[in-house]
Amino acid sequence: MKNLMAKIINGKEIAARVRAELREEILSLKEKHGVTPGLSVVLVGDNPASRVYVRNKGKASEEVGIHSAQYDLPESTSEKELLDLVDRLNKDSSVSGILVQLPLPKHIDEEKVIEAILPSKDVDGFHPYNVGRLMIGAPTLQPCTPYGVMMLLDSTGVDLSGKNAVVVGRSNIVGKPMAMMLLKRNATVTICHSRTADLAEKIKSAEVLVAAIGKAKFVKGDWVREGAIVIDVGMNKDADGKLCGDVDFEGASERASFITPVPGGVGPMTIAMLLKNTVESARKAAGL
Ligand code: GUN
Repeated sequence: MKNLMAKIINGKEIAARVRAELREEILSLKEKHGVTPGLSVVLVGDNPASRVYVRNKGKASEEVGIHSAQYDLPESTSEKELLDLVDRLNKDSSVSGILVQLPLPKHIDEEKVIEAILPSKDVDGFHPYNVGRLMIGAPTLQPCTPYGVMMLLDSTGVDLSGKNAVVVGRSNIVGKPMAMMLLKRNATVTICHSRTADLAEKIKSAEVLVAAIGKAKFVKGDWVREGAIVIDVGMNKDADGKLCGDVDFEGASERASFITPVPGGVGPMTIAMLLKNTVESARKAAGL
């Protein structure tokens, strides 16, 4: 008989609360200021996973009262055509946020496209201007997934100051911005990755563990420090084809104080934070 001890961080519930608050905020923006936030999502090509993500982003936007527009461009779209669309959206005052779904086809320079987005409309927080502001600790549009993770960490009520935080993964989308956000909260941050020596030992030192590895159940239960907060950013399929995270949930829950499940942990937060960023952009653009 397994002894589950960790408290489950319910991302689904917290994300629903964020969306409910945004719905109220958007109503008031419309009534008091005549402002309707707008989100434009651009998809190039037909990556099936991207297609699902983009559809979900559009649906979630409409549900809270954000006007959403989706641009479905063929795989054959040239870089110039995509840059022209971004330019048009930059200039369109009804567009508060622009999101170009990644990855892009190989013949398009991703960096160039991200840098073409007006930083004030960059609701992904990927533009070097926003990345730079995050790094110096200035207020900015924050990348949605790590922003959502911070909200989950805050839901535990635990003060992160002085805590040993280990981030496994160094992507621009999750690992690097995650480390900056934890550092801003005065955690002592270690970034680990595929070349890290003694990864298990590093993970064992974590009072806060954020796993963004991309390998099913990679983090074993006995790597989890007693009382750690465990945040699982992974979205993998296990041997039976079932959705699972980067952490062995069963084993880890016997040692962690708090843990996020997969699904129902970080996943629902990402879109909620995208909506939050879009509303924030709309507010700023209206001078509010
Ligand atoms: N591809 C995977 N995650 C993301 C994301 O957060 N934003 C965008 N634009 N593309 C992604």
